[in-house]
Amino acid sequence: MAPSTTALSDIENAKRNAARAAVAEHFDPAARYVGIGSGSTIVILKAHLKDLKFDSPPPTTLIDVAFDGADEIDDSLNCIKGGGACLYQEKLVATQAKKFICVADHRKLQTRLLKFWKYIPIEVEPLATHTVMKEILALGATSAVLREGHMMKAGPIKTDQDNFIIDACFQPLLLPADVQKSGSLHPIQKGMEGKGEGGVWEVSELAREIKAIEGVLSVGLFVGENGEQAVKRGGGEGVANEDGTASVRS
Ligand code: A5P
Repeated sequence: MAPSTTALSDIENAKRNAARAAVAEHFDPAARYVGIGSGSTIVILKAHLKDLKFDSPPPTTLIDVAFDGADEIDDSLNCIKGGGACLYQEKLVATQAKKFICVADHRKLQTRLLKFWKYIPIEVEPLATHTVMKEILALGATSAVLREGHMMKAGPIKTDQDNFIIDACFQPLLLPADVQKSGSLHPIQKGMEGKGEGGVWEVSELAREIKAIEGVLSVGLFVGENGEQAVKRGGGEGVANEDGTASVRS
């Protein structure tokens, strides 16, 4: 019992430290609009913003800063999100924010996505569920499963938009840099371009392919600028280390 209790409290500490550091370094009290995602880390973070009133920004107005958690983060700061079934709305907030701060404990940090976390959550329109699953398997997924609610009898879990979630397992995803190095070859599995050969995908290629399937509303792969580009824009990523201290990975 003792080791797991300690491990749990270490994780809680790591989340608390990451949340505190993210607010201290990235929350400007003068900010007009602050985006908040979901998950246990963000619940901790929200406690630091208790005096803030939440209001929707007018259309086309950018959110000053958005804080959110993640299920897994790779070396290029691409993320998997949607483990808690909140997906489309979180992506909407992230894409409308001037600055996206992902707050996560050390367990989430992996060199490549799907190294530890097992699946990519995909939000689908219910009528399209079975054709989407078929097409995901055709892309090389090792499995594609409709996520059930906590009470199996009640059927699949529903998102805030009344959609379903498909959890799709793939082999670990390559970084853009993996396929850019030495022409189209990458250092991990030479001869693959990350376009699904042997079921191996580069993260942004796979995000694009899944999003293009009819009936897919949102893919739980948050890809885009790399850390350097984000830092130039004033972004960054708060991360809790194993010893409980917090740092920014960029
Ligand atoms: C919600 O669907 C997710 O994107 C969460 O942000 C993610 O699962 C992180 O949650 P925890 O902070 O609870 O690990």
